[in-house]
Amino acid sequence: MKRIAVFTSGGDAPGMNAAIRAVVRTAVYHGIEVYGIMRGYSGMIKGEFVKLDSASVANTIQKGGTILKSARSQKFLTKEGRQQAFDQLVNHGIDGLVAIGGNGTFTGAMIFEQEFGIPTVGVPGTIDNDLYGTDYTIGYDTAVNTALEAIDKIRDTADSHDRCFFVEVMGRDSGYIAIPCAIGGGAEIVMVPETQMSTEAVIDSLKSSWQRSKTSFLVVVAEGEEEGNVHNVAQQVKAAIPELDTRVTIIGHIQRGGAPSASDRMLASQIGIAAVEGLTNGMRNVMAGIVDRKLVYTPFVDTIHKKKMINQSFMRMVEILSV
Ligand code: F6P
Repeated sequence: MKRIAVFTSGGDAPGMNAAIRAVVRTAVYHGIEVYGIMRGYSGMIKGEFVKLDSASVANTIQKGGTILKSARSQKFLTKEGRQQAFDQLVNHGIDGLVAIGGNGTFTGAMIFEQEFGIPTVGVPGTIDNDLYGTDYTIGYDTAVNTALEAIDKIRDTADSHDRCFFVEVMGRDSGYIAIPCAIGGGAEIVMVPETQMSTEAVIDSLKSSWQRSKTSFLVVVAEGEEEGNVHNVAQQVKAAIPELDTRVTIIGHIQRGGAPSASDRMLASQIGIAAVEGLTNGMRNVMAGIVDRKLVYTPFVDTIHKKKMINQSFMRMVEILSV
């Protein structure tokens, strides 16, 4: 392998720059040329390639966002778009790819590999931590800490005013962000897509806390919660317990920004190296990840289709600790 390219795609995540840096420096270390593709698949189609070297990634490990920018490309979903992307790779002499992103990124990479045979290794970069084949994704730890910091502040004002706050956190279809936020933030209740807790159950639980003379409450709601959005849940609770003074906070995109935590920098560096060394050792169509502290390569098809299960004991922890 003589020349590879790296790109970030989908939602950005803190630690993506640390991963890019590791990919670039590992390539340089092994005498491989490396290009960065701007704006993910969209830039691949348009030919937005930049030559990178060790200096290009200096002073980036601590920065949030992605120096290569990111996008969700509709055109890459078409055969015509993928053909244009492949033509660009051929024109630039690229013979291997490192794709940093989540589920959508790897779905694209898998189809692309099947159609055009370009070897690709994935690096799990998403705050959602919803990828099978790695215990943690790059950005998750930072996002949880950012959300938790916000929740601590909400708790202060909830307590001062004897209020019940419904706090929505990100995570797409998974409750991975919500659960540590609920446990670490001392929430009374956590609603995640995986357990489908009904709004009636939330109401019953809050009523019982209210009767035990609790005066402020925190309900953490994962954005993908199937009972409906956080506003609906809050409205139904208010209708059932009018004496509760309710408020809704959506933490939103601040969860995606900021300097990566030490864990995320470490994880990104480890997996970035593994991605390039995997490619040079003939790996293709796989995602590099860390499971039980060991480096593993998982086929894209599994990372995309297999569900990483939530540990049910965490739900019990919330119940016990909010008594
Ligand atoms: O996948 C990361 C994520 O932040 C999800 O948690 C969220 O559902 C989604 O991206 C938001 O995407 P966008 O920034 O395109 O609105």
